[in-house]
Amino acid sequence: MKHLPNLKNFHPEEIKLILQKAVEIKANPGEFRDLLRDESMAMVFQKTSTRTRVSFEVAMTELGGHGIYIDWNTSNFVLSGVAYETEYLSRNVSCIMARLLHHSDLDKIISGSQVPVINGCCERYHPCQALTDILTITEHGDLSSIHIVFVGVQNNVSNSLAILCDKLGVNLTLATPVVDQEDESLEPEVQKIIKNSSYITHTTDAKKAVRTADFVYTDTWIDMQYFNDPAHAEEKKVKLDLMMPYQINADLLKGISCKIMHDMPIHAGYEITSEMVRDPRSIIFQQAENRLHAQKGLLWWIYKEAGIIS
Ligand code: CP
Repeated sequence: MKHLPNLKNFHPEEIKLILQKAVEIKANPGEFRDLLRDESMAMVFQKTSTRTRVSFEVAMTELGGHGIYIDWNTSNFVLSGVAYETEYLSRNVSCIMARLLHHSDLDKIISGSQVPVINGCCERYHPCQALTDILTITEHGDLSSIHIVFVGVQNNVSNSLAILCDKLGVNLTLATPVVDQEDESLEPEVQKIIKNSSYITHTTDAKKAVRTADFVYTDTWIDMQYFNDPAHAEEKKVKLDLMMPYQINADLLKGISCKIMHDMPIHAGYEITSEMVRDPRSIIFQQAENRLHAQKGLLWWIYKEAGIIS
């Protein structure tokens, strides 16, 4: 049984198969409406979400199955051992997707589960987002010849994007400040990939990096759960001062023929201006819609690997 903690354990050919199936299902959704008939997936959330929840739930429904939303804080996950609650879940559902604050909880869920587990985002990785990002990019260009520039802070989203770009041979520049060694998203193995990959470079010069970009991608500078937290107000101020040169705005992208990406939720006026969100070059909402299609390709692969569908 194969889980999806972070994509590091996936072969490039497996990733290509997932993406090909996502394209196929997106083009002909009606042909797959019974693919997961009578299957249920538990969707466990410790953190807020719009896209991850909606896209997985709609994907399950449109594939003939059912997604069950479980709020960590109003379930008995909050009271009991994670592995016990997970083992119970896995005797009722055929897949578990979990959005968690800490990857260590995902490890506990995987250890207690008798069914495949999908990482729906943790502090270190966002593999479902990276699959979506590559799916979206393939709708606009050839992976072997395009250049993605991720502008902002290195985080769970850029970690997963880096893993995928390295595996698929896609040119990626991370245009970010020097990585904060205390940041919770810091992952030594990903830093090693970034350092050693012939496809990935790091620069602190966003202005220079975007000049050759086909895709300029940004994400929030502050982790979502801290954004409106008064306890993190000082940290937020320091971060914002450091990050303003990395804002996606009209000046940064003046004269540059690129697509603009953001995995959402957007904090307009911070990592990107509202003008750039609605710029003709923006593919942000297409990218967000593609969460649904990528999820379907992934669910097909997960259930096939588990021997539940052929
Ligand atoms: N991009 C993303 O994961 O969106 P949500 O946090 O709304 O799920």
